[in-house]
Amino acid sequence: AFAALAPKDLDGWRVVVSAGGTREPIDPVRYLGNRSSGRQGVDVARAAADRGATVTLVLAHAAADPDAEARRHPGIEVVDVGTAQEMQRAVQAVAATADAIVMAAAVSDYRVAAVSASKISKEGQAGRTLDLVQNPDILAELAATRTGRQTIVGFAAETEPDRNRLIERGRAKRERKGADLLVVNEVGWARGFERPDNSVAVIGHEGAVLLEHHGSKREIADALWDAVIATH
Ligand code: CTP
Ligand code: CA
Repeated sequence: AFAALAPKDLDGWRVVVSAGGTREPIDPVRYLGNRSSGRQGVDVARAAADRGATVTLVLAHAAADPDAEARRHPGIEVVDVGTAQEMQRAVQAVAATADAIVMAAAVSDYRVAAVSASKISKEGQAGRTLDLVQNPDILAELAATRTGRQTIVGFAAETEPDRNRLIERGRAKRERKGADLLVVNEVGWARGFERPDNSVAVIGHEGAVLLEHHGSKREIADALWDAVIATH
């Protein structure tokens, strides 16, 4: 229904969206992960494709429903990745020709310094420490190396219940990353994840609050594309 009603205002655009959550291996059977279902990012990709864009979706471990919806969409090419470094390579491979890049994925900030080749046993170990090293910051790198008229969008999930402080964190993060737009939303164990709806604010240049919206993840995706088109 959305596809038929959508305006084709992204006709001719090449768009890259990342979604889902990366996983960093610890040993052959364990990983460090996060709770992202990929739904918001997949809806960003679907909205763009419905509006006429050619979309590459770099997808990491999305939940079954958003994963299936993305693969079924004829306007979306899905590239599957697992770790943050795989996501970095996949995004970089298609970034140069993109008019807009939306990093909706939850990217692991760290990876395990030395992945064990065999399953780690608890035998003789009352406690344990994992050594971690920082992953590349894909968004910051994209923003720093962008060419021409390319709009770069980040997402930030924050556990900050105060609206004004949430906006301030978003402003600082947008600035630090060098993104054009940053979408911030408040999350908690019972907020944001595994839900059909979301509450976001979109921060633009000079820290301007371009929109605040509570609604379905698809509504938010369409409002975000309106903001991208308006600032491009
Ligand atoms: N991001 C990225 N590469 C990373 C980490 C994050 O591209 N290694 C992107 C995410 O996809 C998101 C944005 O950066 O679009 C913000 O992620 P977030 O985790 O909120 O930012 P960080 O800079 O990692 O800050 P924090 O210390 O709060 O986690
Ligand atoms: Ca992070």
